[in-house]
Amino acid sequence: VFLELDGRGSRQAQLTRALKAAVLAGRLPSGTRLPASRALAGELGLSRNTVTASYEELAAEGFLQARVGSGSFVAPIPGHEAAAQRADATPGASASQPLSQFAQRAREAYRRPLAGAGLGELPFNLQYGLPLTNPALTTAWRRELAHAAAYTSPNYPEAAGRADLRAAVCDYLARRRGLQADPDDVLIVSGTQEAVALSARVLLDPGDRVVLEDPHYVAMWRAFVAHGAQVDTVPVDDDGLVCERLPDVPPRLVCVTPSHQFPLGSVLSLPRRLALLRYAHMHGSWILEDDYDGEFRYGGAPIAALRSLDAHDRTLYVGTFSKALFPALRMGYLVVPRALREPFRMAKQLSTFGTPAIDQAALARFIQSRGFERHLRRAAQALRTRRAALLAGLREHAAGVVEVRDSQAGMHLVAWLRGFDDARQDALIEAARARGVGLHPIAPCYLSAPPRPGLLLGYGGVSPKEIEVAMARLGQALACV
Ligand SMILES: Cc1ncc(COP(=O)(O)O)c(C=O)c1O
Repeated sequence: VFLELDGRGSRQAQLTRALKAAVLAGRLPSGTRLPASRALAGELGLSRNTVTASYEELAAEGFLQARVGSGSFVAPIPGHEAAAQRADATPGASASQPLSQFAQRAREAYRRPLAGAGLGELPFNLQYGLPLTNPALTTAWRRELAHAAAYTSPNYPEAAGRADLRAAVCDYLARRRGLQADPDDVLIVSGTQEAVALSARVLLDPGDRVVLEDPHYVAMWRAFVAHGAQVDTVPVDDDGLVCERLPDVPPRLVCVTPSHQFPLGSVLSLPRRLALLRYAHMHGSWILEDDYDGEFRYGGAPIAALRSLDAHDRTLYVGTFSKALFPALRMGYLVVPRALREPFRMAKQLSTFGTPAIDQAALARFIQSRGFERHLRRAAQALRTRRAALLAGLREHAAGVVEVRDSQAGMHLVAWLRGFDDARQDALIEAARARGVGLHPIAPCYLSAPPRPGLLLGYGGVSPKEIEVAMARLGQALACV
């Protein structure tokens, strides 16, 4: 029989695994005599001891029987062979296994593409969501992690999150986002995505209505669709969500990006903030405030969180460290209305028993020591330089063609393409790709048709020098479409 060793673990473990798989798949039926250990060792380039030890292990587990003087034989496993044959006779049996409705809806939701995928190999990839790398952060984070690994209790953490991190988050929110929160209202989660999944579990039954902005963050849409929610969208304009267009049939949840609309960049105006809060209060809806990059503003005063205006405690505030630090961390927080404290804690406990405690402890110290805010200042400066390089490059190489929707915040810009149709936009993306530049259309962020072709330009993951080169090449690409 053909045995393939998979290269994982010791040679004995590999051989044992390969023999077991052959027995279970019926390639070595019961009663088969296995080769003598010396012969198999020679064939597979293993030592004879390895083969003998593997045979002994398999005999101890009931896969083989050793018969003195005549060798090792595959043991009968009652019921197994007939069942294996039946399964084999049903082609594609595993593909037709019934999946939960959640899994089926998730599969449907993933048919909708995410913005910005697929050009990862290009040297000048202007993809939204790539992290800003920073050697000083790497050094500081390594130090905090080492300290946390040495001093953190190995026991389960509190499901809602470590008390020191929740307190540090509240302190930070009060100083930087104008938000007074009680540590007991805070839940430490694995990024926005877990906050969304928990919110869906706690607040929505399948069929319940959720409102998203249009355009929006596709990963959030997917999570609600997979959960079985009925997702409606409301357009946005220069003042953010058009509150007059909120549905008459009230949704359970309205999701907004008030500090920096994703992806268009507008800030939700004060009258609209108040209108949205009134709507939620009047209809008993909850609001999910996704403050994904509120730390980075390059002009004007910082924008206070919507939740800070909410007198009726209808707003769930979600913050993430994916932009402020890096997405690999998978760390974020959710500030929940008091009435939702307990159900959210239970949901978090049922989901994960808590977020990894060592990472939490490291982050708590990083925030408390003000290392985090030092990092934010540096990162904001780096992003400001990149943004300026991008704007200058667009002015120099794409003047008259692109119309920038400048939002003075975050790590991306939207550049509308003047006089382009979809075919010409695709040709531009292809011409740029051929020159090593990754451009990403904004259209996937829309559920409705976008007003016209446009690009979502991320500048977090490219240096100013790279941006300069990318813009020059964009100019060349424009010249040939
Ligand atoms: C609108 C929006 N919200 C949230 C996030 C962050 O998600 P997470 O915290 O799950 O990494 C992103 C990241 O790209 C985003 O664009």
